[in-house]
Amino acid sequence: MIKFDNNRFHLKNSFYSYVLEVSKGAHLLHRYWGKPLKEFRDSAPLQMLDRGFSGQLRAFENERTYSLDTLPQEYPAQGHTDFRIPAYRVELENGTNITELNYKAHRIFDGKPNLQGLPQSFGGGQTLEIELEDICNNFKVFLNYTVFEDTPILARSARFVNSGGKSIKIRNATSAAIDFNDNNFDIINLYGAHTAERTIHRHKIPRGIFEVSSTRGASSHQHSPFIALARPDATEFVGEVYAASLVYSGSFAAKVEAEQFGTTRFVIGLNPDTFTWKLEPGEEFQTPEVILNYSCAGLNGMSQGFQKFYQEHLIRSKFKNQVRPILVNNWEATYFDFNEEKIVALAECAKDLGLELVVLDDGWFGKRNDDNSSLGDWFVNKEKLPNEIKGLAEEVHKRGLKFGLWVEPEMVNEDSELFRAHPDWILHVPDYQPSFGRHQLILDLSRSEVRDYVLDAMRKVFSSAPIDYVKWDMNRHMTEAFSAGRPADRQMETQHRYMLGLYDIMEKLVTEFPDILFESCSGGGGRFDAGMLYYMPQIWTSDDSDAVCRLSIQSGTGLAFPVVTQGAHVSVVPNHQVGRMTTFQMRNFVAYAGTYGFELDITKFTEDEKAEVRDYVKLYKEIRSTIQFGKFTRLLTGDKDGNEYAWQFEDDGRLIVLYFKVLAKPAEPIRILKFADLNPDKVYTLKKYFPPKKMSFDGGKQVINFEEKSFYGDELMFEGISVEKIDTDFAAYLWCFEK
Ligand code: DGJ
Repeated sequence: MIKFDNNRFHLKNSFYSYVLEVSKGAHLLHRYWGKPLKEFRDSAPLQMLDRGFSGQLRAFENERTYSLDTLPQEYPAQGHTDFRIPAYRVELENGTNITELNYKAHRIFDGKPNLQGLPQSFGGGQTLEIELEDICNNFKVFLNYTVFEDTPILARSARFVNSGGKSIKIRNATSAAIDFNDNNFDIINLYGAHTAERTIHRHKIPRGIFEVSSTRGASSHQHSPFIALARPDATEFVGEVYAASLVYSGSFAAKVEAEQFGTTRFVIGLNPDTFTWKLEPGEEFQTPEVILNYSCAGLNGMSQGFQKFYQEHLIRSKFKNQVRPILVNNWEATYFDFNEEKIVALAECAKDLGLELVVLDDGWFGKRNDDNSSLGDWFVNKEKLPNEIKGLAEEVHKRGLKFGLWVEPEMVNEDSELFRAHPDWILHVPDYQPSFGRHQLILDLSRSEVRDYVLDAMRKVFSSAPIDYVKWDMNRHMTEAFSAGRPADRQMETQHRYMLGLYDIMEKLVTEFPDILFESCSGGGGRFDAGMLYYMPQIWTSDDSDAVCRLSIQSGTGLAFPVVTQGAHVSVVPNHQVGRMTTFQMRNFVAYAGTYGFELDITKFTEDEKAEVRDYVKLYKEIRSTIQFGKFTRLLTGDKDGNEYAWQFEDDGRLIVLYFKVLAKPAEPIRILKFADLNPDKVYTLKKYFPPKKMSFDGGKQVINFEEKSFYGDELMFEGISVEKIDTDFAAYLWCFEK
């Protein structure tokens, strides 16, 4: 519901109220965001104080208490009496960048406008569009707010329109800015690296400006386009959290400023360091959308808000509500060293183990036997696959399994027919040599002829064989992000134009091939963002497949994204990334918490191991709908130095709890695990219980002696369950209750 009354906008649903106000100077102010209010009557009016060195606009010269430097603003400019971080910066034709936006008009309407060419949420209840106009009539900004009735989410974006007679340059265009009237926050962000994505980092808000950002032309492994401001007393289960997640896969920046008078400004959007956009008279520019999320139920409340929203209002694939096939991927099994025979042998074994999808990874095209060549040459290497993809896919299908294929369409190797034919199709600048990443160069998707080639090549591949699944990879970040032929004053548009070009290609392909299940990937989780989820309903979470590392990576990813979107595979020991030996049970149960699969040579399993895998696969098939689509709650998140994790999944019929303890330690207290958010009046009956097996695989399952097997939800939450103490490293437990 959105109301406009007495110069105030009140956006409200059962989760939050969000209040804006038009000031007497026609500036748009932020007044409230938090628990829903029956009515906003301004019980805490703005105290207008004369603050030293906070200046006045000319119109308020004699009113020294009216300063943009101290007012809580909704889309602030810089250099025109506000000295905090700005929401935007527009350079006028005369080279200056002083502008002033005043409230002009607004519209409230049902539904949500389409954000041309961008990934975006859909199915919105009501939208408020506020028109702000530069006082010198150079341009307008339309701020969009969509309230979704059934979620704690508010979607925001901004649209710039050049309404003047001269060209302007947008140097900075955030999707949202918010001024909080205090600074009593911790900041939570997800940082990382390749093979170490989305580590949860919680820290006290610093005095000054804190930034998470990417200039890499990808949302990146290093910083997720997500940030949360949590009250210091907020835990996983209680307390207020304000979070933002950008629906964008390229360079971004989120900044938080704890400023001089104890307030906080927050902005998120395109990274101004890698972006400029020239707008000619009459042209428009639409920013990406940001998903704002208010939780008064702690971090789990926030995560559940994002998870439900993405499932219902962002992911479009026909697979979004279908349980995902259990796959085997040949990457860590064979790397580039495979042929049809080997993949068919994997398929044969996959069938025996009960798996459902065989994925052929990198190395099937051109003359690619290592990562030096052939990206761009999307024709089959007949030495490896004499019967082409079609022949292999049919062999896999004959065994009752689905077939999947890896591609990396955005890239080209110097050693490729494509590069030899079109050396200028890469992102580059005239006077400097292009830089390499994994020996590859980036195709300039900001150019239509390059996009046409990629589209055509992918259309041919996808229709060349019965392909059920595609893994879309991207294995380096942007350098020299400029484009041949683009005029000098538009070169800084290249990164964003690349993203728009990529989205255009993806939109066309996912529309033309609706029966393909797409999995996005960027060297693991380098583009794990809401932008990608709009096109592809699952993402390979990380190139680190070690079960211990995955505990942190999957917990961090789950902070902002649904479980069902996270690719999670069992790999071999010693693990290929960190050399660790973990238990088979831990590797399986960690991989359960996502789209479960195998990433090792399954033909090398012993008969005993095969029997175990059959059991794990059978169990997962029974419970996967609860894990993939149930309500996900983190019970323990790396407590005790990253040693313990517990994850709970619940739907109408079932409750699954996974508990992991990395290292056994002497003289530790007995772990009591308290479940969360259950129905206190419902009876939960323990149907299956898997304690850890010893490293030696002694097979001796211990059975905990509960007097009863059925408990009311209140007891499981408040008394908890006692975790059987089993002295082994890499311990993994699973409880399955039915209601
Ligand atoms: C990076 C991916 O994350 C891996 O899973 C694999 O597909 C390789 N690329 C192949 O080059």
